[in-house]
Amino acid sequence: MTHTETQLITLRDPRSPAAEAYRTLRTNIQFSSLDNPLHTLLVTSTAPDEGKSTTICNLAVAMAQAEQRVILVECDLRRPSLHTLFGLPNEQGLTSLILEADQPLLPLHATEVPGLMLLTSGPLPPRPADILGSRRMEQLIARLRGEADVILFDTPPVVAVTDAAVLATRVDGVLLVLQAHKTSRERARQARQILEKVKANIIGVVLNGADAEQGYGYY
Ligand SMILES: Nc1ncnc2c1ncn2[C@@H]1O[C@H](COP(=O)(O)OP(=O)(O)OP(=O)(O)O)[C@@H](O)[C@H]1O
Ligand SMILES: [Mg+2]
Repeated sequence: MTHTETQLITLRDPRSPAAEAYRTLRTNIQFSSLDNPLHTLLVTSTAPDEGKSTTICNLAVAMAQAEQRVILVECDLRRPSLHTLFGLPNEQGLTSLILEADQPLLPLHATEVPGLMLLTSGPLPPRPADILGSRRMEQLIARLRGEADVILFDTPPVVAVTDAAVLATRVDGVLLVLQAHKTSRERARQARQILEKVKANIIGVVLNGADAEQGYGYY
């Protein structure tokens, strides 16, 4: 398997311990919100390369495998990676929708996973936070809510730039990815403070790479 293929472990090797861990994450999220189902969920982390995109993609696949209609939205408008992970083009996407008004059709890509659609970033804008904080973004989220059971948003790290915090105020829940042996307590606390300041609903933490012996990803 190539590197991008191993990243989508829930798809390539559904029986692996890592895939099982992502299914457990899916179940935990469902149980955490029994009374108030989460329709929109954002994933962020404290720093680059902590496994946000890997986590959100595998969570999306696991949810689609449980017969939920899922839309995965690329909101990392700085270093987008989801289109590469799913092997899809990125000429049109989120930014095209925000910049060009009145597009009757959403440029959603079907993925190889039934029930999972991807909205890629589109061309990268000079000021991502302006896009994510725009009125049109709010309207788009409302529109997407009507199209799927769950909408998942991938974002840049929350400590470095405001993008994730801006979007966090507009979603039902936020999942924070931390890297075991790498994310410092101080950074984790900082991330939590930033999110609490905007009154984000932090539903939980994913500890990535907690025990190498347990395989690729273990929570
Ligand atoms: N559980 C894991 N075990 C081992 N490697 C992992 C795990 N999760 C992610 N990785 C690897 O770590 C690297 C970074 O992962 P990923 O792109 O998901 O992080 P990210 O937080 O989205 O990064 P960025 O800040 O660039 O958006 C990738 O090469 C990925 O394959
Ligand atoms: Mg990423």
